[in-house]
Amino acid sequence: LIDCSNNFTALVHGHAEPHIVAAAEKAMRAGTCFSLPNRYELEHAQELLKRFPALDQVRYTNSGTEAVMTAIRIARAYTGRERCIMVRDSYHGTADIALTTGDRWVRRGIPEGVLQDVAIVELNDAAGLRDTIERDAGSYAALILDLLPSGAGLVPVQSAFVQTARDLATRYGIVLILDEVISFRLGLHGLSGEYKVNADLITLGKVIGGGFPVGAVVGREPLMRELDPTSPKGLLHGGTFVANPVTMAAGLASVRLLTETAITRLNGLGDDLRSDLSTRLRSSNWEVRGRGSLLRPVPAGGATADKRLQWGLWWAAYDRGILLTQHNDIVLSTPMDKPVVDEVADQVANAVTAVSSRAGTG
Ligand SMILES: Cc1ncc(COP(=O)(O)O)c(C=O)c1O
Repeated sequence: LIDCSNNFTALVHGHAEPHIVAAAEKAMRAGTCFSLPNRYELEHAQELLKRFPALDQVRYTNSGTEAVMTAIRIARAYTGRERCIMVRDSYHGTADIALTTGDRWVRRGIPEGVLQDVAIVELNDAAGLRDTIERDAGSYAALILDLLPSGAGLVPVQSAFVQTARDLATRYGIVLILDEVISFRLGLHGLSGEYKVNADLITLGKVIGGGFPVGAVVGREPLMRELDPTSPKGLLHGGTFVANPVTMAAGLASVRLLTETAITRLNGLGDDLRSDLSTRLRSSNWEVRGRGSLLRPVPAGGATADKRLQWGLWWAAYDRGILLTQHNDIVLSTPMDKPVVDEVADQVANAVTAVSSRAGTG
């Protein structure tokens, strides 16, 4: 089976990468957690700050979900406001507030008060974003964006939308949170670096843990000061396993291996695969979304394949030796090369032909 899920994009270096295994093993032999800071945590944070030179401090969590929760709490404490703005169908983890972007089934179990705290805007609708903010600018603590929202169909965010978001956030004192839990792998300075947009807070996860559970908030000092544990006002934040040495050592190795050269090569493989697969799927009336090392085949024009078609394609690919994510994403990893990617193209094209002829979409 060729793993094109790579644990929902986290395993950017695939499984059991030798440097990561060695780093985790060395850390584990010295003790797995101590309820104290450790040197790997400091080195990891220094590495992240090299990637985000406009930001000043890092705080670790155990997951991307917790990173988003923490970023929102920082924004609320800093601004003294409560409401947030998010993009419809963007996925930011499973905290109540993050799930407000979903449909009525996703929103089940979420208290009415939480739903009312969030304004949902449409992806790439800059005028709608402006209207929403200007109707009640003083009520918003944070605007949260993912620059390649997987839940919204892996559709790229337009630069004009991002620029409008940045300008409005600055003008009205709203904290701009860029959620790079997935997209960090796409550029040396994350996807925000590719867009040349500065966030106030960035949330991370996945690849920065080297295959172990992780999350992080990276931010500007005035905001991160809200977490200052030496201040009586400091927000309560912690976690038994947060920034444990094994995760930090493995994650540090993973981030260091994700050099500019590695990222460029991996994105190039992805771009070639996208163009090859797009050509081959055209006769079935499918297209391939995504950017760089992240791809998603979908029926042309649809936001995403419907659930039955998604499961059908997942199984058809699995039967042909390819493991996709449940949304049918093809996620590349650095050990892959042209022959592997060609095999992925062959088998995914066969799988799409099989399901689209069965479903009558081709
Ligand atoms: C953009 C984004 N934010 C947040 C999360 C949540 O991260 P985690 O699964 O580590 O809680 C995810 C997970 O896929 C994500 O894609």
